[in-house]
Order: sequence, then C-alpha cells, then structure tokens
Amino acid sequence: MSDRTILVTGGCGFIGSNFVRHLMDNRPDVRVVNLDKLTYAGNPENLAGFEGDPRYRFVRGDVSEPADVARAMEGGVDEIVNFAAESHVDRSILDSRLFVKTNVVGTQVLLEAARRAGVSRFIQIGTDEVYGDLGGPEGLFTEETPLAPNSPYSASKAAADLLVRSYFRTYGLPAIVTRCSNNYGPFQYPEKLIPLLVTNALDDRPLPIYGDGLNVRDWIHVEDHCRALETVLERGRPGETYNIGGSSERTNLEVARAVLARLEKPESLLSFVPDRPGHDRRYAIDPAKVRRELGWEPRLDFATGIDRTARWYIENRRWWERIKSGEYREYYRLQYGPG
Ligand code: NAD
Ligand code: DAU
Repeated sequence: MSDRTILVTGGCGFIGSNFVRHLMDNRPDVRVVNLDKLTYAGNPENLAGFEGDPRYRFVRGDVSEPADVARAMEGGVDEIVNFAAESHVDRSILDSRLFVKTNVVGTQVLLEAARRAGVSRFIQIGTDEVYGDLGGPEGLFTEETPLAPNSPYSASKAAADLLVRSYFRTYGLPAIVTRCSNNYGPFQYPEKLIPLLVTNALDDRPLPIYGDGLNVRDWIHVEDHCRALETVLERGRPGETYNIGGSSERTNLEVARAVLARLEKPESLLSFVPDRPGHDRRYAIDPAKVRRELGWEPRLDFATGIDRTARWYIENRRWWERIKSGEYREYYRLQYGPG
C-alpha cells in the first residue's frame, strides 16, 4: 500500500472499527474514509480519538443509497472494503427486510460505484455461514464448498457474494471475497454470544444457551481477522475467495464454561433456552489457502483471546452498560418476550 485512500463501510461496527484502528495505527501511508449509517450496531465512540485526524474522514450514510456512496467517494477512493451489514442472525429471523436492503442492495450500489470509479480493489467481507451446516464433527469449509445458506442473514450474504463474483466476471472489477468464521474481541455488540456471556456473567445474570449447547463455532480473535484482511488487500488475487478462520472449534457450552472460569463465576449461571429456528449445528473453516498463498497465520489462541476480551469488557463497563440499557432492551423484549 502506498499513499492511498481506502473507503471502509460499516467502520463504526465491531470488525470495521477494529480494522480502521488497525490501518490508522499501522499504515501511515493510508487515508481512511468511513461510511456508516450508524444503525443500532454502529457506534462512533468505537473510533473516538481519530476525529480530527487528517487521515480520517467519517461520512454518515447508507450503502444502499447511491447519493450517500457518491458523497463518501468525493475526492477519490482507491480501494473499498465493505463491512457494512446487518449482521445478527436472530434479528434476521425476526425481520429480514433490512438484511436484503443493506446486505444485497447495499453491495450492488457499492459495486456499481466501484466499477464507475475504477477502484483498484474491492474487498467484500463475507461469512462462513454462506456454506450452511457441516452437521456432524467431520469436514471443513473450503472455498469450493457449495453455498447453502440457512438463515435470512446468511442468504443475504450469499447473494452479496454472488453479485461480487458477477462484477469480477462481467466488468473485470478487481474484487475479492473473504469468508471468515466467528469473531470475538473488543467493541463487539453484546447481542453476540461471547460479549453477551461475558457481560451477563459480570452482572451475575443467566447465560442463555440455545438448545443443547452443543452447536460448534470456529472462533477467531478480531485482531487476527484484521491482519488477514490487510494481507488480502495487499496480496490477494482479484476474482478469488479466501476463507479465514482461527482453527479453534468450540461448542457453545465450552465457550460459556471458559468465560465463567475466566471470570470466576459459578456454572449455575448457565441457562438453557429454546433453540434458534434453523440453527446450524457446526461451522469450521479450512484456512489452508490464505495460509499458503498469503502467508497469514493466526497469532492468538482461544485461551489468550478470551482472557484479553474478558479484561476489555471488565475495563470498559461504561461502553456496554450504555448499550445494554438502551435499544438492546427492545430487541430483547422481541426475542424473549416481556419480563
Ligand atoms: P456489526 O453489526 O458490529 O457492524 C455493522 C456496521 O455496519 C455498523 O457500524 C452499522 O452501523 C453499519 N451499517 C449497517 N447498515 C448499514 C448501511 N445500510 N449503510 C452503512 N452502514 C451500515 O457487524 P460486524 O460483526 O462488525 O460484521 C462486519 C461484517 O463482517 C459484516 O459484513 C458481517 O457479515 C461480516 N462477518 C462478521 C463476523 C462476526 O463474527 N461478527 C464473521 C464473519 C463475517
Ligand atoms: O460465522 C460467522 C458469523 O458469526 C457472522 O457471519 C455473523 O455476523 C455473526 O453474528 C456470527 O453468527 P452466529 O450466529 O454464529 O453468532 P452468534 O454470536 O449469534 O451465536 C454463536 C452461537 O451461539 C450460535 O450457535 C448461537 C449460540 N447462541 C447465541 C446467542 C446470542 C446462544 O447459545 N445463546 C445466545 O444468546
């Protein structure tokens, strides 16, 4: 990378804000434009400290609105990294409309703007959930695994990936799709499993475990994901897909027990609740391609990552308390009913 402007969309969310910070801290040659709609999940506080920095510009806007995207691209953009999305599976089960608007239409609007501007890279932040369900303990998702999404969220992300593919093939847009497994780390909205478990445990509240708690996810610390994305931006091949994962499979029950042990809280806080409809049993990534072609390796093992993450939520209680006392309550009422 040399003296270039990167448009990051969704930069006020969990992974986007970690990625913007990663670029600002490690790439003095890069300017960042952050286009974010500031939905419930977008929090400008996540990037406090960069306001006023000449290398950083924030634009409030919607990726599915061409005028907002044009405003963000005023002054020129060399590369686009698209994180903007509705990202929570349970919300997509309650109402999928916004998932189609942001995740599908938003990606189409960005692709169109990207090809007209002639950007040199378009990175689509995808998810392993597009591959569907591995079911039992055998097998890993490779880049050749057929797409078989099972939730409205993952279906919208699969549609976006296919649009990206079509823009590479039809228009020659130098686009790349990455598909990552479950992230955790600082600034993650506490509707997602790990920050929900940590913050509930800190308040001695029950830890909701869907179904039998034996669904498996493949965890990666967000810092490792961000380093992988920087590598893809620098050396990834246009037209390719890269699976990214921490090779760290855990059942949800194992994750919950690790959190309780780290916080020295009793297992009596575990609370089994009705299962998520359509709940995928197991995800697991084969990251061989990104390791082999781009030389990326994860650095944080799960124990270290959980330790650091727990510490961050302990030290940043104000950040999550504010969230949990606001919009989040309404979502919980919809999800679990009053009381
Ligand atoms: P998040 O929900 O924390 O953040 C999403 C961000 O996008 C927020 O800042 C929100 O305000 C913004 N946004 C939403 N709609 C927008 C719109 N229409 N226009 C502009 N901005 C909008 O999400 P996250 O967990 O950081 O995920 C980021 C991306 O990574 C998503 O595309 C998600 O599908 C993908 N992903 C997430 C994970 C994970 O474990 N969290 C794993 C793999 C891939
Ligand atoms: O795999 C990547 C995906 O990971 C991303 O694409 C999504 O944006 C991200 O939200 C995440 O999806 P999951 O559905 O896997 O994450 P979530 O944190 O919602 O749930 C993780 C597991 O924990 C899943 O098996 C459901 C379970 N769960 C979740 C919640 C919120 C519980 O048992 N209890 C809960 O309260």
